[in-house]
Amino acid sequence: MTDGRAPVIAVLGSINMDLVTTTDRRPQPGETVLGSGFAMVPGGKGANQAIAVGRSGGQVEFIGAVGGDVFADGLRAVLRDSEVGTARLRSVDGPSGIAAIVVDADGENSIIVVGGANAALTELDDDDLAVIASVDILLCQLEIPVPTVAAAARHARANGTIVVLNPSPARELPPELWADVDVAVVNSGEFTALGAALDPVPHVVVTLGGDGARYRGPDGQELSVPGTAVEVVDTTGAGDTFTGALAVSWDRGPAEALRFACAAGALATTRLGASASIPHRAEINAALGDAHPAP
Ligand code: RIB
Repeated sequence: MTDGRAPVIAVLGSINMDLVTTTDRRPQPGETVLGSGFAMVPGGKGANQAIAVGRSGGQVEFIGAVGGDVFADGLRAVLRDSEVGTARLRSVDGPSGIAAIVVDADGENSIIVVGGANAALTELDDDDLAVIASVDILLCQLEIPVPTVAAAARHARANGTIVVLNPSPARELPPELWADVDVAVVNSGEFTALGAALDPVPHVVVTLGGDGARYRGPDGQELSVPGTAVEVVDTTGAGDTFTGALAVSWDRGPAEALRFACAAGALATTRLGASASIPHRAEINAALGDAHPAP
């Protein structure tokens, strides 16, 4: 696909400021618990995946929106600092997206996302469409309006761009969108919930948390990659890291791509905060114990 050069990837999706509290255990309904820490860390599934692409060695352009509030500059900066192209990042009136996140002592989280500027991404302009048509892979999630994702996937399919969809958070999707997806990346809960909706998708990758990931290909081929044992601090953004790293390695074939993505995702759980935890290629290679060749 890429003839030895770094894959060029467009990520269409959300960017949020994550408001992260840490606590021994997450509260029950109606309960107040004492927390042990607070941090503001840039996140959002789209931005996390774009940063993961950039740090894994891919060339990446982000299509998204920030608001006109105090968070906007920091959100733009984290993309720029991670070598993510921001020419298609709009500024709109109103608040940026935020996520209220609680992380417990086991590193498990609960997240509420308030879309803010992400909800304003209702139209793709000619420049967005030109980017989507020119890249190797379009990578999308579901924290922006679904019709925008569907329009992008349709345009990508029409122009020979591979479409990778991480359908998270789970939402009702039109069947036409599934018909334009080449690769779906889902967790085990999403896999069960989506059921037959995934049947038209040629490549399905299921993330299994600490147990690694499995793959089902168009010819019925199946394979599994085991998890890596790590000390888990925070699982936030681990799936996004997996997805970005998978996209960068996709042209190496599913076995190698899953292996690279599992190592990247595992490393992301060892630090607090979504974008702050995403590893660089050298760290992933070191964890794999090999010199995963440059893309
Ligand atoms: O997948 C993790 C992300 O989900 C967080 O960064 C948060 O912003 C939400 O979008």
